[in-house]
Amino acid sequence: MKLFTKLTLTAALVGSSLVSLAASADNDKQIYKRVDALMKKMTLIEKIGQLQQLSSREGVITGPEGEKVNTEDFIRRGWCGSMLGVKTAKDVAYYQEIALKESRLGIPILFGYDIIHGCRIIFPENLGMSSSWDLAAIEKSAQIAARETASIGIAWTFSPMCDISTEPRWGRVSEGSGEDPYLGAKIAAAMVRGYQGKDLGDPNTILACVKHFAAYGAPQAGRDYHTVDMSRRMFRDRYLPPYRAAIKAGAATVMTSFNDFEGIPATGNKWLMRDLLRDELGFTGFIVTDWAATDEMRAHGVAANRKEAAKLAFDAHVNMNMVDRDYIRYGEELVKEGTISEKTINLLCREILAMKFRLGLFDEPHRYGGDRYKSETYLTENLAIARDVARKSMVLLENKNEVLPLKGTERIALIGPYADNRKEMSGAWPGLVEHNRSTTFREGLETRFGKENIAYAEGCKPFEAIEGGIAEAVRVAEDADVVLLTMGLPNSCSGEATSLTSIEVPQAQRELLKALDNTGKPIVVLLVTGRPMDVGFEVEHADALLVTWHAGTMAGPALADVVSGDFNPSGRLTMTFPVNIGQVPIHYNMKRTGRPMLDPNSKAKYLSRYLFTPNEPRYPFGYGLSYTTFDYSDLKVLTPEVKMGESVKVSVKVRNSGKRDGAEVVQLYLRDDVASTTRPVRELKGFERVELRSGKERTIEFEITPEDMSFWTINEEFAQEPGTFHVWIGHDSNASLEGAFSVNR
Ligand code: BGC
Repeated sequence: MKLFTKLTLTAALVGSSLVSLAASADNDKQIYKRVDALMKKMTLIEKIGQLQQLSSREGVITGPEGEKVNTEDFIRRGWCGSMLGVKTAKDVAYYQEIALKESRLGIPILFGYDIIHGCRIIFPENLGMSSSWDLAAIEKSAQIAARETASIGIAWTFSPMCDISTEPRWGRVSEGSGEDPYLGAKIAAAMVRGYQGKDLGDPNTILACVKHFAAYGAPQAGRDYHTVDMSRRMFRDRYLPPYRAAIKAGAATVMTSFNDFEGIPATGNKWLMRDLLRDELGFTGFIVTDWAATDEMRAHGVAANRKEAAKLAFDAHVNMNMVDRDYIRYGEELVKEGTISEKTINLLCREILAMKFRLGLFDEPHRYGGDRYKSETYLTENLAIARDVARKSMVLLENKNEVLPLKGTERIALIGPYADNRKEMSGAWPGLVEHNRSTTFREGLETRFGKENIAYAEGCKPFEAIEGGIAEAVRVAEDADVVLLTMGLPNSCSGEATSLTSIEVPQAQRELLKALDNTGKPIVVLLVTGRPMDVGFEVEHADALLVTWHAGTMAGPALADVVSGDFNPSGRLTMTFPVNIGQVPIHYNMKRTGRPMLDPNSKAKYLSRYLFTPNEPRYPFGYGLSYTTFDYSDLKVLTPEVKMGESVKVSVKVRNSGKRDGAEVVQLYLRDDVASTTRPVRELKGFERVELRSGKERTIEFEITPEDMSFWTINEEFAQEPGTFHVWIGHDSNASLEGAFSVNR
């Protein structure tokens, strides 16, 4: 048994490095002075009014609508602190004017919107973006989205979604960054930095919202909104890191999740919202519920009526009700009868007002919006960045006989339901998209290869055959040298409330593929999806497989860049692609067991295994091909013996051994050999995206910090333990180049 040495990492992780929400402490003092002066003038119901978020009648409805309210009337009474879903600068100004001129105190409204993967310029769905492993590019995408959003009048996005998920059945994996807490944490922080910049007072930045707190990505059976039940240890080790990183990066707001956690719905969960979020993680911004989540505590069966639901959310110190109006309805009564104290209301209202001051809304209520959008959306340089992010996100999974890149002389048959469809490029949650601004695969390829070299046929719809569709597609294919076939799932199968029990490509599309395969032409499948899929059938019938995701506004040129070889694919999966749905949940960082199947060919029975299916997935986390090859050698642990609290240095040589320049995502995995609790077989603890010219070699050095080695120990603390560790560096989570080190007391 090892000796445990407590490292007070928690404090180091939060407190000290917390980015201040205001530009400076002095500024913050001034802000709270102004907040307190204002609050002295406010009646109880006006304070509760600031805790109310209404949805716009014109906007996108993302949940059950409930009873309609007279929005203008609520605003005039001072019962509307925030609105979501208002879509235009004109409408923003309209509602803002009512608040300023017709409510008693003229408190400005804070407008929020779901800007998930872009505002006007749409970037790939988030799971796609995460596959770029390019933090700078992801941060930039958030920065561009923030600027466009602010120019339309909106100063708050409900993003990033920090929910780790190992559930391809759950449609919302498209909004997240995959299965890995380490990568997820880096991306969450990058997105917060991108949205918020250095100063919330800058009119080109917007508030970020960390969601969905907490563990929303682990619903039972992959069914959206379903129960989440896991140990706190599992939660802390695997699910908490991205939320924590986003909060550490200074995220201004947090959204509660729909699910229950340890039997208590998140919106009424005091441990989550107060003990963990506020006290332990040091969150100082405000919390908004998810859509009607306070009221939904009735359906969860923990509140008999709306008043009880309001009480539960008040007790959890949840600041703002999204859409449902339980606070407005019962807040005053709860205070008057002494169930909730006015102090609680003051506390909740104060943080919302402080945020409005930080944004500059009191000084310049129309600083977001106006005409700004005319000159600040669709900027040429930003479209170029969206193209770059889209091509970096695409993942090449198969490339038999090097069918890709195309030689440039082929006649190309472009086929399938997503080949010429602007809308289907945008993904499930494309901000304030204008679909006519998107480019299709067809347009991108025609521009790159010439119209005369592309023959197009739709072939089928996503779920249905079209009359004569297959025959026409076969004709087109027969006249071509190569077939590019778009397959997969439409936008409507991605995002919220899109859980599936099959992750295979729909049958109508498979029939099309089978017929095309019979032509004998080489086939490249372009997989359009927002989730991992079972692609066994496609691999059998095609030569190459490129996951394009829903690639956004610049889908067309980005695809052309990749298939032409102008850009060498460098995307790597951030979620495992299983052999079949029965393996789910399957992820690379599974726990070790007492009967591990160490040899995949073993015939032994009493092992943790399936009878007729391998344990290994079809494509592991981190996997993706390139048009060149990379060789790894010389893994050196530069500091094989360290003390607790010291970092370990490891280096490796990476060589581009192929004929093309390209980028490799060098990945480092770690295993704690013996620990006080069971640990994963390996965990990502470092990566670097490296551009390497053909024939060139580089030595990459990694530092493994005490924090990287730490976990939630048997002593219920996030700490490091002494002992031996194994480290692997390589191309994906199966990396086999190995080293070891020990951490001594
Ligand atoms: C979703 C949130 C979203 C909210 C507002 C909810 O249904 O779960 O992610 O931010 O609606 O649109």
